[in-house]
Amino acid sequence: MFISYGKQSIDKSDIKSVQNVLRKDLLTQGPLVKKFELSLKKKLNSKYATVVNNGSSALLTIGKILNWKKGDIIAVPPITFLSSVNTIEHCGAKPIFIDISLNDYCMDPNILEIALKKDKKKKIKAAIIVDYGGRPAQWDKFLALKRKYKIKLVNDNCHAIGSSLNKNKGYAVKYADLVSLSFHPVKAITTGEGGAILTNNPYYEKKAKILRTHGIIRQNDHWKYKMHELGYNFRLPDINCALGISQIKRLEKFINKRTKIAKIYDELFSDNKKFVKIKDNNNIQNSYHLYPLLLNLETIKKKKDEIIKEFLKYNIKLQVHYIPVNTQPFYKKKYGFNKNNYRNSLKFFSRCISLPIYNDLNNKQLNYVTKICKKIFKI
Ligand SMILES: Cc1ncc(COP(=O)(O)O)c(C=O)c1O
Repeated sequence: MFISYGKQSIDKSDIKSVQNVLRKDLLTQGPLVKKFELSLKKKLNSKYATVVNNGSSALLTIGKILNWKKGDIIAVPPITFLSSVNTIEHCGAKPIFIDISLNDYCMDPNILEIALKKDKKKKIKAAIIVDYGGRPAQWDKFLALKRKYKIKLVNDNCHAIGSSLNKNKGYAVKYADLVSLSFHPVKAITTGEGGAILTNNPYYEKKAKILRTHGIIRQNDHWKYKMHELGYNFRLPDINCALGISQIKRLEKFINKRTKIAKIYDELFSDNKKFVKIKDNNNIQNSYHLYPLLLNLETIKKKKDEIIKEFLKYNIKLQVHYIPVNTQPFYKKKYGFNKNNYRNSLKFFSRCISLPIYNDLNNKQLNYVTKICKKIFKI
């Protein structure tokens, strides 16, 4: 068995919760949908929550709510999962890739401002900011840009459920107009597949609920409905909601465990020229969806590929988050790629590996991972 970078944590209460719903009449469109949404709202200080079948659907719904269309430009960082960008394409709009900052690995607000200043025709309608790895981005600066340039902010918060900024666990909806979450098994809590849209705006909330179910608005009689706009079937079944309701009760426990693992890695890699460490900021709590380690390959004197293969020999399956999306053949062919504009993303990509970090990583496994790190990096 491989030790991978992330994995779900399932206990008896999760199993019981799912078993219970299997005995009920409604496996989907039942009462657990609202119940899970209520738990999310309470836990994340959000006025509204709409659960959907995955994080990518949450992002696409957000693009549709904000009416992104041909002619619109949406800012996005290259270091993210494909769906943050694919959403923009699916809406018919165009992405503008904004380089990351090497201080937090999230979109650099200063580079976004340069792009906004150049955009005389005001085509940039929004920015999708990714709280990479669970570390909140520079939201105060993004909010200032939103006000100055009248753009919308989306927080692709798929890594950062359970993070907080200035002790506010509801920071995501405080700063962004709309927020996407993912409950894929590698995330802090899981529903198998699943996602959610958070917002404090009642209009966005109403649109999210309509788009989730084909664009349908139900009328008083149980069989009557009208469709005024094109929607999707992005519903999250009650089976998955049952798992989510049970999992979210342990969110803090999961984050505490991830934080403990991160501290052990921090001790192992700090003050060593072989690694690049970013300074932790007291005003943030990182949910540690990922533990990205930046390698000083010149000092380590090995290639990143070789290192990943060496770990694999010891049954540790590292990951790389992410191959810059704008270097993917689809985007390169469509928009070209000027490496001079993405120096930080490319530098980050060439050095970054993600180490195992998840609730069920036990002490024996963690000791094993640290032992192999010491061996491979000669520390
Ligand atoms: C930053 C980011 N955005 C969006 C997604 C998409 O979420 P999902 O896999 O639930 O569709 C992911 C999932 O890995 C992600 O990491």
